[in-house]
Amino acid sequence: MDFAEQRQAMVAHLRKRQDISDPVAAALLAVPRHLFVPGVDPEDAYRDVPIVTKRDDAGRPISSSSQPAIMATMLDQLGVEPGHRVLEIGAGTGYNAALLAHLAGPAGHVVSVDIDEDIVARAGRHLSAAGAERVEVVGADGVQGYAERAPYDRVIATVGVWDLAPAWLEQLGAGGRLVAPLDLRGVQVSVALERAGDHWAGRSVAPCGFMRMRGAFAGPEAIVVLRQDPELMLGLPEWREIGDVLAALDDEPDEVAVDGGEEVAYGPGVTLWLALRDSRCCVLTGRLGQGYGMSIGLVDGDAIALLGGRGAHVARGRGPTGPGLAAQGHGPGGAALAADLAGHVRAWNEAGRPETGDLRIHAYPGAYPGRAGDDGQGTVVPKRHTTLVVTFN
Ligand SMILES: C[S@@+](CC[C@H](N)C(=O)[O-])C[C@H]1O[C@@H](n2cnc3c(N)ncnc32)[C@H](O)[C@@H]1O
Repeated sequence: MDFAEQRQAMVAHLRKRQDISDPVAAALLAVPRHLFVPGVDPEDAYRDVPIVTKRDDAGRPISSSSQPAIMATMLDQLGVEPGHRVLEIGAGTGYNAALLAHLAGPAGHVVSVDIDEDIVARAGRHLSAAGAERVEVVGADGVQGYAERAPYDRVIATVGVWDLAPAWLEQLGAGGRLVAPLDLRGVQVSVALERAGDHWAGRSVAPCGFMRMRGAFAGPEAIVVLRQDPELMLGLPEWREIGDVLAALDDEPDEVAVDGGEEVAYGPGVTLWLALRDSRCCVLTGRLGQGYGMSIGLVDGDAIALLGGRGAHVARGRGPTGPGLAAQGHGPGGAALAADLAGHVRAWNEAGRPETGDLRIHAYPGAYPGRAGDDGQGTVVPKRHTTLVVTFN
């Protein structure tokens, strides 16, 4: 297969799994991804996988070409039109910037900013090799945006952000749109926002998982390392002290059935539901028995409850011994915590199993002013520069 055929196969594969607009598909068909990841076998360059291109001293990924599926989703959220002026935060390999340039066309302009000078230099070389010299790559902390070319019609962050930088909102012109992977109490979602009077209103929301922004705007990270080796970590919606959860996880759990006879489906929306409704929410990731895995639950003091199949011991990697879902409580008070967890999953199910795409997000600069007739619905998520108000449809 030549490279054009490989791109066709990649787009056909993506279109089986998700809707992709014709302009975004045309960009994916036109831009040679293999020229943006020169050390990688060209066949691998056209697989629907992220490709890590730089790691820090501890081996953690700090730059990559993102997974084409999420790039396509975010480009459709962004809706770049010919002639648009676009700012990207997170140049990485330059591949997404080249896609943006294809969408904006010869009358448009794309600026892409990255915090690392070596990444900027490489992105520039890749863009030249691919014939996308019109993209301007800038070395700077993206938190300042790039005022020199403002106003923009579109701003996109391709790196995980904890808050919306005031500069991005200021540098967007009238009718502008921002797309960013935003942290919602420890769960990341790609949100497209547009101005709505005194605030920014979400137009669309999609699940995503990006590496976090570095530098002054990184934001707090609430991850408790329960064990270094084998690795076991607990992600929390915000930083707080927890007890000796690792010891509790050794016990056989107290089990509370979630479904009570009726089948309760389980989907990724449960994680957001829990994160937005219960400050005791946690996400356990790492070595669970023989393999890596993750589970969601609640943690309080020395007790933890995790969602798993009936009869499972999630932390030991023991699979379910019966049909259906259960909350597994460990430690003192674990059974009560498991009952609360099961209650949340039932409530999510009864609410029609809302997923990420059903979220409504409003971002207010500064503090949330409240609204006349505010019915108290929705979760208020305070950030440093903005306050998010989040509801399920
Ligand atoms: C997932 S990669 C971006 C992928 C890129 N759009 C592509 O198509 O290859 C995230 C990038 O964000 C950059 N980054 C992290 N923090 C940043 C910051 N504060 N300002 C600008 N760029 C940042 C990283 O250096 C990394 O290259």
